[in-house]
Amino acid sequence: MAVSSAPGKVYLFGEHAVVYGEPAVPCAIERRARVSVERRTDEHLRVEADDLSIDGFTVEYGGPTDGEPDVAVPEPLISAAMGYVDGAIDQVREVAGVEDVGFDVAIESDIPLGAGLGSSAAVVVAAIDAAARELGIELERTELADRAYRTEHAVQDGQASRADTFCSATGGAVRVEGDDCRSIDAPELPLVIGFDGGAGDTGTLVAGVRELRAEHGFAADTVAAIGDLVREGETTLREGDLEALGELMDFNHGLLSALGVSSRSLDRMVWAARDAGALGAKLTGAGGGGCIVALDPTDATETALSFTPGCEDTFRAELAEEGVKRLE
Ligand code: PMV
Repeated sequence: MAVSSAPGKVYLFGEHAVVYGEPAVPCAIERRARVSVERRTDEHLRVEADDLSIDGFTVEYGGPTDGEPDVAVPEPLISAAMGYVDGAIDQVREVAGVEDVGFDVAIESDIPLGAGLGSSAAVVVAAIDAAARELGIELERTELADRAYRTEHAVQDGQASRADTFCSATGGAVRVEGDDCRSIDAPELPLVIGFDGGAGDTGTLVAGVRELRAEHGFAADTVAAIGDLVREGETTLREGDLEALGELMDFNHGLLSALGVSSRSLDRMVWAARDAGALGAKLTGAGGGGCIVALDPTDATETALSFTPGCEDTFRAELAEEGVKRLE
């Protein structure tokens, strides 16, 4: 058996604009998905997921075309989860040059699903890494990131940037611009997460921004302004100026809001963090619901969020220096 874990991430800056070739800066956090993979004697795939933020499920099937899994959780969630695992295993079959190899896959994750913390990327990265090692192949991190990206790209109908998968594979802070991904230096960041218990629909949100951008010059300018902000954010990050960083996060949230991807609960959490004295706060990821990230070295934001209506969970998130970890 091989076991790998991979971290989730927050976007310090740049989600949505990254889809149009602007740079973005995601940052890996110490919330992980762990995937164990054991080779089977047949070519079937059996997937067990206990700790995802959906009810546990177990599915055994002969392949993606083998009919609908019979489980009591919403179909779209199952299809999405199975799509990611299927895609990850296909990548490994391709690397190993064997079509008919089967696996038992067990997934545990403490990253809320679809909430802007890169849960699917973490599962895909850890699954590819563990399944490849189970077949005796150790992938370089860059190849791992690339194969995980291709999996997400296929499952998400071409609507994926390299940000989540690269960040999850390599850890630390990352700069992404188109196909160019690189690790960058970051100071210790006092990150606090607020989670509204929900999830946004990334495809719909990305499509909404695409429409706005095509329709209005000022929406295209807003996307370009996010790019300018990210470029300034990179310098600020290098200089370790947390106050200036917070200010840029506030501004980034405003621009995302203008693009229509925030929500009442995200705005409420952002304002609770700001009122509590956070240096800055913004939504992270696709938006529509899910998580915000705030910058606060004190306990005030976490305390305020824990009393904010609509905030289901709040926690401090350490930067994950290490990306994929090979546990067994
Ligand atoms: O919600 P997440 O973590 O999947 O982030 C989506 C980020 C977008 O920029 C909206 C889309 C993408 O793939 O970059």
